[in-house]
Amino acid sequence: MALRRFDLEAGGDTFAFKPETEEKIAFWRGKYPAEKQRSAVIPMLWLAQKDNNGWLSEPAMREVADRLEMPYIRVYEVATFYTMFRLQPVGKYHVQLCGTTPCQLRGAEKLKEVCQKEIGDIMYVTDDGRLSWEEVECLGACVNAPMVQINDDYYEDLTPETLSQILGKLKNGVEVAPGPQIDRVNSAPEGGATTLTDPSLFDGSRNSVATLPNLPSAEPAEAEAAGKPEAAAPTNTKREEPVASNTKTTLIDTGKKVETGERPAAVTIDPASYDDLKRIKGIGPKNEDALNELGIYTFKQIAEWTPENVDWVEDFMSFPGRIEREDWIAQAKTLAEGGETEFSKRVDAGDVPSSQEDED
Ligand code: FES
Repeated sequence: MALRRFDLEAGGDTFAFKPETEEKIAFWRGKYPAEKQRSAVIPMLWLAQKDNNGWLSEPAMREVADRLEMPYIRVYEVATFYTMFRLQPVGKYHVQLCGTTPCQLRGAEKLKEVCQKEIGDIMYVTDDGRLSWEEVECLGACVNAPMVQINDDYYEDLTPETLSQILGKLKNGVEVAPGPQIDRVNSAPEGGATTLTDPSLFDGSRNSVATLPNLPSAEPAEAEAAGKPEAAAPTNTKREEPVASNTKTTLIDTGKKVETGERPAAVTIDPASYDDLKRIKGIGPKNEDALNELGIYTFKQIAEWTPENVDWVEDFMSFPGRIEREDWIAQAKTLAEGGETEFSKRVDAGDVPSSQEDED
């Protein structure tokens, strides 16, 4: 951090805000009650700095103090504390180079050498008046370290070469696009996103409520109230394949007994005749496999499920209430009759990747 001193001579004796700045001053002062006007000191100093070629002269600070009816020393204290306020003349493009640890570890020292070589000492203004620089503390863009702020913009992910190019362009009056100077958007990974890239995350096809493994199918009290046998607690029973028969008690993958409802009738058909159950919203590849293991292959079978069948399947697949919530039966009826649903159209068009991949 460089020593910060007022330049008492360079600022002359007077300062006046530009007429067009008065509206902004009124805006900021309007945010505070009459007895708290001094709370506007930081935005007022910022506006004064903008109107004074990027730095705060002593008359500019006095003007702010007079307007806010503050002692001059209180305004000086604020202006000298924050490095966003410059106390000496600066170039048209003033570089604030972050030298704090993350930027330093990522090469800020080399960037300082570039500034020294291309511009000169800290706070020196080049003869053409275009460039100056100083070192500042963390500017809050550490993820894109090392970086500099030039006037109001951040230039990030710098190397000595890219910083040198930027300074060269600014010296020659060529504007440079701010932001990361490598192939990345804002603070996203270099080269593009590496996570959350599955379009199904954003197309609404995953809106169905997820279920938890081994979730009990119903609270015992609820089951009793419904006049049904109490749902069995999960056990460590050895896995057995489901049997395609109309039994009420079957061991399933999770190792729990299904004692709720009635198992739907299974059929045996030629695989060529299987319906694509994934055209039903809520049935992904895993659910389809599980249904096929139960001997359920067609829309017609699902369309004919009774409430007891629904209870049984929901218990078996550990997703209470989901079949009704997603309206599988109505969807199945439409599809069994050769119709289409909005969802099946999207599946048929290949717009639902989760209906092609293992997502459940
Ligand atoms: S350390 Fe440089 S931006 Fe934070």
